[in-house]
Amino acid sequence: MSEVSPLKIVVVGHVDHGKSTLVGRILDETGALPEGKVEYLKEVCAKRGMPFEWAFVMDALQAERDQGITIDTAQIRFRTKARPYVIIDAPGHKEFLKNMITGAASAEAAMLVIDADEGVQEQSRRHGYLLHLLGLSQIAVAVNKMDLVGFSEERFTVVKAEIVAYLASIGVTPTHVIPVAARGGDNISGPSANTPWYKGPSVLGALDGFVAGKPATDLPLRLPVQDIYKFDNRRIISGRIESGRVRVGDTLVFAPSGKTARVATIEAWAGSDITHVSGGAGQSVGITLDEQIFVERGQVASLVEQAPMLTHTLKARVFWLGRQPLEVGSRLKLKLATAEHVVEVTAIERVIDVEDLAHHASEVVARNAVAEVVLRSRALMAWDAFAVNPRLGRFVLVADYDIVGGGVIAEPEASQLRTGHKSTNIFAVDHKVTPDARALANSHSGGVVWLTGLSGSGKSTIAMELERQLFRKGWQVTVLDGDNVRHGLCSDLGFSPEDRAENIRRVGEVAHLFAKAGMLVVTAFISPYRGDRDGVRAIDPQAFHEIFVATGIDECERRDPKGLYKKARAGQIPEFTGVSAPYEAPDKPELHLSTEGRSIDESVAALLAYVEQSFSLEPRQRVGGGAFF
Ligand code: ADX
Repeated sequence: MSEVSPLKIVVVGHVDHGKSTLVGRILDETGALPEGKVEYLKEVCAKRGMPFEWAFVMDALQAERDQGITIDTAQIRFRTKARPYVIIDAPGHKEFLKNMITGAASAEAAMLVIDADEGVQEQSRRHGYLLHLLGLSQIAVAVNKMDLVGFSEERFTVVKAEIVAYLASIGVTPTHVIPVAARGGDNISGPSANTPWYKGPSVLGALDGFVAGKPATDLPLRLPVQDIYKFDNRRIISGRIESGRVRVGDTLVFAPSGKTARVATIEAWAGSDITHVSGGAGQSVGITLDEQIFVERGQVASLVEQAPMLTHTLKARVFWLGRQPLEVGSRLKLKLATAEHVVEVTAIERVIDVEDLAHHASEVVARNAVAEVVLRSRALMAWDAFAVNPRLGRFVLVADYDIVGGGVIAEPEASQLRTGHKSTNIFAVDHKVTPDARALANSHSGGVVWLTGLSGSGKSTIAMELERQLFRKGWQVTVLDGDNVRHGLCSDLGFSPEDRAENIRRVGEVAHLFAKAGMLVVTAFISPYRGDRDGVRAIDPQAFHEIFVATGIDECERRDPKGLYKKARAGQIPEFTGVSAPYEAPDKPELHLSTEGRSIDESVAALLAYVEQSFSLEPRQRVGGGAFF
């Protein structure tokens, strides 16, 4: 079946502003209501001598759904000519938050309903803010109950200006603001004669204008482990693929244990359409591994080269719903995908007043407020920043079996990134100068251009010439070179695999520090082990570009600029790369730079072009936006 998947939407707004009526109308006009439902309810109303309300239809549907079906699956479906839709119903504030944050039903777009008479209320703002917090940027606004204000264009303009201004202050531009009278059906599916002054689309037209989100299959694999079943002597690991794909033969790493194994088989669940070779986002799968490693519920499987973050602390924006205020020292249960962690609030960095968006320092977070907090867990937590992968980037907070809050995880601090370190009680200090501000000032972003290749391949020569040329163009650029660093920072290290690993680790950390400070760092290290280079990449994968200076051993030996190959062949240098120690060439470098048959100038020109294309800011390029912190 090649059915278009339905667009998931939420309808939010202040309780009395007419959400149910609007949804009831939408369902009626798209023919989504059960046959005879409206007529039946109209009859009941008539018998009781009360006016019919569209909200009754919603209540009736809700009552049916309440019979045994959980809220997570309480979804209302309808379709327009353009495509099918699912409304993630949001009857109450708390359920809405719960649904949105757990991701059981992460919406792709929203309709915000505002009463034309009452105008923008606190709850309208709060819902708008929450949508923004959850990364939803496609929002249309229905200014409802236009009949109560005599379909006045003036009143509409005032309410529109108010909500547009609020949304603009949180960085959201509504796709449309539509004057609506849901009760009478004005501007629901077509233009209304009551609003001749309105030239925009109807509610359904606005919905059809929303763009479907990118399928989560394009993101890195995240397969949170739900259960382990034992069948015969096989152990089947089950879970829902939150993002990405899994294929037979993939090497998976399980966070936080770090254990790896290959996928031996993928078992199809009854009723699913998974092939036995691969499974994609949204599907529930059972997999078996080629090795019996320890796996338990709560762990997250990913591909080795795209593992999630793994830390004891995380920084998040939390929406607090608890009756008791949240305080430093509060202990809560954090549920992230299938994992549960006991966390403690170690810092409340700032509290945001959703009403006027003012930030202020505070010791406590009151109910319904949003705050940036730091949470610490004794066990390692596997996560992604929400902006990177929402599926593993949001969580709910639970106290006494009750959801008391939800949150989205901020981009990591560099200091959070490394695990296995011994320092404790260290706290990252925020820079006041952001990477974006630095990039704007320099006209290029910071980053690490990591040259790897054999001794004598030309790394240092190319790096120094590149530095000279970039510097002349006004770039903030520097070179870290193996021979130089080994005189100082790494003078205690030799050439054993362990020492090389430490050499590359230190240099990698230094390079990324400089990159974070806005510089373009060019490095020239043999860095013969793939694992060491991948470790440097993991510090900040976005900033890291691996350049393979591909010069064959014969050519390097022919050049032998320092006479080292000669010495190595004579047995005077132990563990010499390419002679008596290995060199693991990159599998997928960002740039493969072959120097053979090319002059130095030609190689540098090729690399320069790559660097400019990758790091230079186009004049029209917009920086900022999107990110949460
Ligand atoms: S790495 O392997 O740890 O990346 P690095 O790039 O810092 O090496 O240093 C390589 C430089 O050290 C070479 O260019 C060479 O001048 C010198 N050197 C000395 N001994 C060795 C060796 N055994 N293997 C490779 N390079 C060596």
